[in-house]
Formats: sequence, C-alpha cells, structure tokens
Amino acid sequence: MAKKLKHSIELTVYSNVDELSPEDKELVIKAKEVSKKAYAPYSQFYVGAAIRLDSNEMVEGSNQENMAYPSGMCAERVAIYYANSHHSDKKIDTIAVTAFAKKFDVNHPVSPCGACRQSMAEYELKQNQPIRLIMTGESGEVYIAESIETVLPFMFNEIELKKE
Ligand code: THU
Repeated sequence: MAKKLKHSIELTVYSNVDELSPEDKELVIKAKEVSKKAYAPYSQFYVGAAIRLDSNEMVEGSNQENMAYPSGMCAERVAIYYANSHHSDKKIDTIAVTAFAKKFDVNHPVSPCGACRQSMAEYELKQNQPIRLIMTGESGEVYIAESIETVLPFMFNEIELKKE
C-alpha cells in the first residue's frame, strides 16, 4: 500500500522590520545597503544578502548579472561563497535577504531561489548548526526561518558522496 509523505514548513512572520531584534534589523539594513551595489542591468532586480558570522562580523553580497544570462550569480551565493572563502573557520549564524526593483514595489519578503537554498544548505550541513534566514522586501512583512533546511525540505543530501 502506498503512503503519503508530507513536509510542512514553519516561518515566523513579523509585520515589518521594526519588530525585529536590534541585531536582525542591523543585518537587514546591511542587506539593503548592499542591494544598492547589485549589478543587475538586465533584470533591474537588485538583491542584497548580508551574513552574520558567529564572531559577530557581517559579510555581504549582491547579485551580479551577465549578458550571457546564466553566467550571473544570485546575491545569496555571492555572500555565502565569500563568507566561506574568507571565514571558513567561523560559523554562519544568520543570512538576511532583501531586494528592490526599478519597475515595481517589492512589498513582500524575497524568497531565495532553489539553487541558493541548496548552496546555503551545504554550509549548514558543513557547520552542523542551523543558519537562520531573514527574508524581507523593501516594505511589508518579514519572514524568518530558523534553518535553511526549513525552506528546503527533501533537499539533495547524498552523504555517500563524502565517503572516500
Ligand atoms: N536573484 C538573487 O540574487 N537571489 C535569488 O534568490 C533569486 C534571484 C537575482 C538573480 C537575477 O540577477 C535577478 O535576481 C532576477 O532573477
């Protein structure tokens, strides 16, 4: 007899950034700042990601587009690859993601794409500690997930690949 598997996800929803803790709000402000440095001439969708490390340092990244479209890179991966290139000895505590667009108001939380979720999940497994994810737009509600796994149920996780 076949059975059904169900995954559900839990997010904490805040009405706006002012409801966040001072640390989380600071990280969102950093993400907003770095979104202004995004290179997004094709989509005109400017994304910023800011990471708080367990040392309390913050590192950031923004999306980088290319006229060969698939060569571009999302803000979250720019930020997380930078973090692990420069601070591989430190754990990642939280990632905040936000965006603004030229042609419309981003008045809802920005949700990382599947490839970014998989990339962030890699470091969550590597550090064996959850990475919190804060999602915001220019305005409106803020969503917080307590781990990347939360937003990527049934992720690719082939532990056998790690065996020699
Ligand atoms: N983008 C990100 O930076 N992060 C995401 O999670 C989704 C999309 C970027 C890629 C591209 O430069 C632009 O947003 C429009 O898709």
